[in-house]
Amino acid sequence: MSEKAASMLFSRVKESKDQLSLGLATGGTPQGTYEELKKMARETKQTFTHVKTFNLDEYVGLSEDHHQSYRYYMNTHLFNHIDIPEEQTYLPNGMANNLDEECRRYERLIEENGGVDIQLLGIGGNGHIGFNEPGTPFTEKTHIVQLAQETKQANARFFEDPSEVPSRAITMGISSIMCAKEIILLVSGVNKAEAFSRLMEGEVNELFPASVLKTHEHVSVIVDEAAAKRVN
Ligand code: F6R
Repeated sequence: MSEKAASMLFSRVKESKDQLSLGLATGGTPQGTYEELKKMARETKQTFTHVKTFNLDEYVGLSEDHHQSYRYYMNTHLFNHIDIPEEQTYLPNGMANNLDEECRRYERLIEENGGVDIQLLGIGGNGHIGFNEPGTPFTEKTHIVQLAQETKQANARFFEDPSEVPSRAITMGISSIMCAKEIILLVSGVNKAEAFSRLMEGEVNELFPASVLKTHEHVSVIVDEAAAKRVN
């Protein structure tokens, strides 16, 4: 799964002569993809100097050097291992004094750079994409979210002390995500089997955020056997 996703991203990096904007996700699912991607970059000496990256989300209140911040995740899993200039890697700033202004700034930044060409997504057990929890209007742009209890519990596995999981995050909205020209959704592991069957068999509904992807014209879903086991 990771090899497939990494090859799709890598071929776009290789083929793009001008700027390419990648939308990136964090969490457990894309770790293998980043592992493969940096291996491909190392083996072929492929440059990433023409690439810009925009991450989906960041926790509110964690600094860049906090080990669980998504900036730290991206630096350690990918950016430190390829030749992308740091100033071309963007995440929302979860430490901004004015968080509403930060949301507007981030949305503007993506727009001013011509939008995301190819967006990598994971999915939450409750169907969230980015941190757009069930019930989020499909029209939302980048905004502050209160993380669902289920999401905090799922993410506690990355924290030494589970009570340290932040309650809020800045996330690209569903409408921001849907502006990407192309989307790759990764679905991995038995914990995602129910979400995957709801995605494949359910209707488009704001109570299941990932369902919106059915209305996007260019989506690839890469799923492993464990996550696909409930779907015929
Ligand atoms: C991460 C993100 C989230 C995760 C989702 C799945 O940037 O936006 O939507 O993709 O919570 O997380 P994992 O992969 O850890 O199961």
